[in-house]
Amino acid sequence: MQTGLTTAILPAGEAAIAAAATMLAGGGLVAFPTETVYGLGADATNAAAIARLYQAKGRPAFNPLISHLSDLAAARAIGRFDETAVRLAEAFWPGPLTLVLPKAPNCAVAELATAGLETIAIRIPSHPVARAILRAFGRPVVAPSANLSGHVSPTTAAHVQSDLQGRIDLIVDSGPVEVGVESTIVGCFDEPILLRPGGLPRENIERVLGRALVQPPADAESDSAQPLAPGMLASHYAPRTRVRLNATCAEAGEALLAYGAPVRGADIAAAVMNLSPHGDLNEAAANLFGYLRALDATPAKCIAVMPIPEEGLGEAINDRLRRAAVGRDHRDLK
Ligand code: TXA
Ligand code: MG
Repeated sequence: MQTGLTTAILPAGEAAIAAAATMLAGGGLVAFPTETVYGLGADATNAAAIARLYQAKGRPAFNPLISHLSDLAAARAIGRFDETAVRLAEAFWPGPLTLVLPKAPNCAVAELATAGLETIAIRIPSHPVARAILRAFGRPVVAPSANLSGHVSPTTAAHVQSDLQGRIDLIVDSGPVEVGVESTIVGCFDEPILLRPGGLPRENIERVLGRALVQPPADAESDSAQPLAPGMLASHYAPRTRVRLNATCAEAGEALLAYGAPVRGADIAAAVMNLSPHGDLNEAAANLFGYLRALDATPAKCIAVMPIPEEGLGEAINDRLRRAAVGRDHRDLK
């Protein structure tokens, strides 16, 4: 286990960006903000750095990583873009979209980052700090969410610190992120396929493509060693506390994660946090992981979650909540 490192925390700015680029070049692990969640970056061309990254997160090495780049020209050097991929890249990059494509010949990204697959996941983030680090470094950066594997993704530098302090070299802090759920992942195969709902609503993508995105087959979500979307393990986003979905009332002693007008029983709940009192799904996505962490830290034995509409960012929110609810069966940590 890799512990005992001194983890520096720097406020975002020129000095932090230069330090991040230097650390990455030296094989270091650097957490930085993206518009979706904080990422844990390593040099995508350095297998030793990637091995340290898997170890620091406690992540299974069969779960491949997303390569982050600063522009489409750089992305074309590592992935083969078909017509669909170009259309999506031009419409949504930089932004919260990841494309899974066949690897380009002579792709410089280390095999370990793609877990032996013939495909590669690529994203061009829009966050100005992420972009500045990527430009200063000049090579692809692999960056999973900067949490311990299986934990809730971090939306603030404090979340990163609580999971990874002493395991990584640097955290660049630029406050809470804007979107709050991870990028949407689209596989550009014979048919474009929605591998993970995320920060770019499905509807926006389907409008640009003029067609529906295909769903992965149900067994692609299983906990097998090589599912189609390898990271979509059923219990991925688990807090330690049990999670009860579609709650129409709160019981005494439960923590309530509300959306819109709180349900009956809110007054006797042990704690109440409201993702969005006025029912704004963007606001709810931005609050989701922080509120789950906060309620997980209360003594409540269960987090009751009110129903969230399955549209726009609601699809990604419900996906993460379903995984949080499955996780409890594998855990008894509280
Ligand atoms: O918003 C995001 O995407 C954040 C920020 C930091 O960019 N990153 C992120 O990375 O969420 P991570 O590692 O937590 O999730 C990446 C997902 C995993 O589910 C992984 O299995 C999947 O992408 N993935 C990576 N390469 C793949 C590939 N070649 N084929 C299918 N899925 C892939
Ligand atoms: Mg993750």
